[in-house]
Amino acid sequence: MSKIAIYPGTFDPLTNGHIDLIQRTLKIFDEVIIAVAPSYKKQPLFTTKERIGLIKSSTKGLKGARVESFHNLLVDYVKNKKSIAIIRGLRAISDFEYELQMALMNRRLDAHIETVFMMPSDEYTFLSSTLVKEVASFGGSVTGLVPKAVEEALKKKLRKRHL
Ligand SMILES: Nc1ncnc2c1ncn2[C@@H]1O[C@H](COP(=O)(O)OP(=O)(O)O)[C@@H](O)[C@H]1O
Ligand SMILES: [Mg+2]
Repeated sequence: MSKIAIYPGTFDPLTNGHIDLIQRTLKIFDEVIIAVAPSYKKQPLFTTKERIGLIKSSTKGLKGARVESFHNLLVDYVKNKKSIAIIRGLRAISDFEYELQMALMNRRLDAHIETVFMMPSDEYTFLSSTLVKEVASFGGSVTGLVPKAVEEALKKKLRKRHL
């Protein structure tokens, strides 16, 4: 049976740090489902549909990667997909407290599901979607930090916003 991992997140937008994690995940698992959470509370810059589109076009070459959105409790979604692994990224120490809290809550909700933490390459350790949006909004270059499609989408979106 193929081993499936679920990589949940907001992905507003996808960065090369996310891609790095997806590639690492595919070394261990047969398939990874990138599960986009609407995250309305965070008031995302890109709609769920736009985020999915950008992930799809940026992961075309990655065999075993799929994209979906989910709206229910994460552990229920994971179970429905016949998976037992949630992938999360650990960048700096600042990620740790929140991620530990989430992992332990998810374990409490379903003890069969494990959270697997992965570390990105050091060049992406200080990269976040938030930082990318901030730099791009002031016209700074995000080349090399996000896939080409995301770079273009950011330009378009922010240009529209400034009109
Ligand atoms: N540069 C990066 N390197 C490695 N992991 C990352 C990076 N940026 C984000 N992640 C991880 O990807 C996951 C999804 O992040 P994100 O899109 O910000 O959604 P969330 O709203 O769940 O934090 C999180 O586990 C986060 O730690
Ligand atoms: Mg985050």
